[in-house]
Amino acid sequence: MKIAIINGPNLNLLGKRETDIYGNQPFEKYLDEVKVLFPSVEFHYYQSNLEGELINELQRVGYSFDGIVLNPAGYTHTSVAIGDAIAAIKTPVIEVHISNVHAREDFRKLSHVSGKSAGSIFGLGLKGYELAIRWLIDHK
Ligand code: DQA
Repeated sequence: MKIAIINGPNLNLLGKRETDIYGNQPFEKYLDEVKVLFPSVEFHYYQSNLEGELINELQRVGYSFDGIVLNPAGYTHTSVAIGDAIAAIKTPVIEVHISNVHAREDFRKLSHVSGKSAGSIFGLGLKGYELAIRWLIDHK
């Protein structure tokens, strides 16, 4: 089973960035733990700060992988094009946000991604990625 984890802008700074909101753990360290939790899954991790690159990656994996866990970060709230890419591909996408976007500024309440995704998880920290993976495994 192949699952892609795709992280958007500034998530390369996890562990250093606004640690009161996003925690102290770099994503690569967390990913090592995830790989131990799900030894039978082949993970492909991709992070970019650029909208078009995220769309290219969604298109690349979106017809052959079994699932995609996507945190589009700030583009969640602005990118019609990422929403369109999710609608275009065949692989189910789970939207994940580390923080509770509904408990923060109003502009974070709008998602161009939620309506195109199989489901959304927010506010549960990095654990949200694990929960999304578990759903994708059960769903297959
Ligand atoms: C985020 C929430 C977004 O609003 C924000 O722009 C991010 C991270 C989250 O994981 O909580 O960069 O997607």
